[in-house]
Amino acid sequence: MAMCRPPSLPIILLCFFFLLTMTYAARRLVPLGNQESSPPVKLHVTDTHVEIDNGIVKLTLMNPSGLITSIGYKGVDNILEYRNTEGRRGYWDIVWSRPDRNGSHFDTLHSTSLRVIKESDDQVEISFTKTWDRSRDGEVPLNIDKRYILLRGSSGFYSYAIFEHMEGWPDLNIDEARIAFKLHQDMFHYMVISDNKQRIMPSDMDRKVGDTLDYREAVLITHPSNPRLRGEVDDKYQYSCNNDDSHVHGWISSTGQRIGFWVVMPGDEFRGGGPVKQDLTSHAGPTSLATFFSAHYAGLNYGVRLRNGEHWKKVFGPVFVYLNSDRNNNSTAIWEDAKRQTAQERKKWPYDFPQSPDFPDANQRGAIRGRLLVHDKETAVAKSAYVGLAPPGDVGSWQDDSKGYQFWTRTDDRGYFSIKGVRAGTYNLYAWVPGVIGDYKHHGEITIRPGKQVEIGDAVYTSPRNGPTLWEIGIPDRTAAEFYVPDPNPLLVNKLFINHTEKYRQYGLWNRYTDLYPHNDLVYTVGASDYRKDWFFAHVNRHVNKEYVPTTWQIVFYLRKVVRRGSYTLRVALASSSFAEIQVGINNNNNQHPHFSTGRIGRDNAIARHGIHGLYKLYSVTISGCQLVEGRNTIYLRQARGGNPFTGVLYDYIRLEAPPQR
Ligand SMILES: *[C@@H]1O[C@H](CO)[C@@H](O)[C@H](O)[C@H]1NC(C)=O
Ligand SMILES: *[C@@H]1O[C@H](CO)[C@@H](O)[C@H](O)[C@H]1NC(C)=O
Ligand SMILES: *[C@@H]1O[C@H](CO)[C@@H](O)[C@H](O)[C@H]1NC(C)=O
Ligand SMILES: *[C@@H]1O[C@H](CO)[C@@H](O)[C@H](O)[C@H]1NC(C)=O
Repeated sequence: MAMCRPPSLPIILLCFFFLLTMTYAARRLVPLGNQESSPPVKLHVTDTHVEIDNGIVKLTLMNPSGLITSIGYKGVDNILEYRNTEGRRGYWDIVWSRPDRNGSHFDTLHSTSLRVIKESDDQVEISFTKTWDRSRDGEVPLNIDKRYILLRGSSGFYSYAIFEHMEGWPDLNIDEARIAFKLHQDMFHYMVISDNKQRIMPSDMDRKVGDTLDYREAVLITHPSNPRLRGEVDDKYQYSCNNDDSHVHGWISSTGQRIGFWVVMPGDEFRGGGPVKQDLTSHAGPTSLATFFSAHYAGLNYGVRLRNGEHWKKVFGPVFVYLNSDRNNNSTAIWEDAKRQTAQERKKWPYDFPQSPDFPDANQRGAIRGRLLVHDKETAVAKSAYVGLAPPGDVGSWQDDSKGYQFWTRTDDRGYFSIKGVRAGTYNLYAWVPGVIGDYKHHGEITIRPGKQVEIGDAVYTSPRNGPTLWEIGIPDRTAAEFYVPDPNPLLVNKLFINHTEKYRQYGLWNRYTDLYPHNDLVYTVGASDYRKDWFFAHVNRHVNKEYVPTTWQIVFYLRKVVRRGSYTLRVALASSSFAEIQVGINNNNNQHPHFSTGRIGRDNAIARHGIHGLYKLYSVTISGCQLVEGRNTIYLRQARGGNPFTGVLYDYIRLEAPPQR
């Protein structure tokens, strides 16, 4: 302001004008619905409830349990299901057990104490806490701090929670953690998971009066209130998504003014299992979930396991619950706006407004960058590879981890990656490359420090390979999506997935194997068969006389020459396994003495849950040249465990390598 120094009137006036114009310009840049034009956030606490109102959204919570009893928006007092008891409308929940005791507990984490953390015109943040000590023997040995935030001018609210297990406390298993919302049943019938997954849903009552199928979550809708839904299957697992495909989902009301309700994941660091872990999203009820981790598509060993009195603390969230509407009641516009808002929230991550010291802001975080190369037949840059920091562990251990934080990205076309906003701490750098088998782990642990960037330069992943490919089946991408996915039984259809890229979400495909192969098992002939048409996506049991019996698949291939003293390598990459055992026979189908067996593997249950993948596993089987013959050879793959329709594996990719070449 040096130019203002000479105090002559014209100049002062000029400066005044200048300031006025500047302020005006600055004002004009403020987007609609932002702070100054909106009313201040108001907090109102009574003995039984806490109300936070920013003039757009009004959130009401129970005091001191911290459960959500109502969300008001656009003249609707409560978009949650008011007919449910107050404790069953919107709540954090976990499933926990103590390894030294029987019993598993579904727990909605009732807090015992309320604290107002911040109360200003621009932000209200409140905390509901619950602390454990040895006198609370039957309760979960965790300290819980549930937070809710409303910002001025924001059409929604934020929630996060801090779970802490103190040193010396009893061992604990936490199998899942999430926030659940039960929406108003008369208002919400239209569910949106993505651009190509949205539909009118059956009601809770439609499910109750329908026919339960092979498990209670799957119901054939027989007497719906909306006759167009008659004869369809409804199953919440059909709406599961990979974490990296799932940053916003929810519902649009279909009565009165159209209102959108959205669960937004602004960040991913607190979600367990890495970018392709699948979890539930929204489903009939109407229900919407913010799932932080669960055993779904992973198995019973998955989850937070606290042993030997270890200290553990993790922040889950914040997640954003967004409400919106459209002047013309246009549902497409409401969904488009929800996606736009999600992109904005993700841009703001890591948020700077949460008040807990356990949630570090951008300045307290670090970064890493580098380039990934992959060496298979030759060395090349790894394009679109998944690269992530996750807790130190074995190669691929991030798949099972929900205890720590994970930070993932994809490499660009030149193999470069950069991960910002990483919490300070010690990690391993992990990666995998679509199109190439196996898992990468960078040697040595990586320490991320606040405000610092780690440069790792070029990292080279050497993919397992002993010799040139003789033949291969499928694409090494950790899913079975490229294989033959049958049409569902016409009496068991979810119309959303007809002619859909996610055809595998249909119910009951496991039984189609028996329809296609009633007597003899699948035989795949290298060079003549096409895996898109001739390789059934799931190696399951056959349904015979009310029993599920093991099946043996054959891969037939011709070798012109065999190196009798050479070692051949069979690579079998699995996209999923559930209570299965794959036995491999080489030109010999002797069940008593298979050449190789995986042993019993997996509990990810992806077949029953319509996932096209669960957890990834790679087996390398050495085959001696003297087991092979010139001419026709057969590899037998026997899934040896019968008894159940869902027992089996999803193959990702199979390859036979010739002996190493000098
Ligand atoms: C669990 O229950 C079984 C059978 O009811 C009982 O035999 C066992 O002692 C119990 N274990 C524990 C740790 O309580
Ligand atoms: C949107 O729906 C509300 C409630 O049904 C109605 O009052 C309003 O006129 C509708 N707006 C338009 C543009 O149709
Ligand atoms: C609804 O909104 C979408 C997206 O903004 C737009 O393309 C479409 O034309 C709108 N439909 C109507 C009937 O206005
Ligand atoms: C699915 O695609 C087929 C062939 O393209 C078409 O005939 C059929 O009408 C489609 N079905 C639906 C429900 O879209």
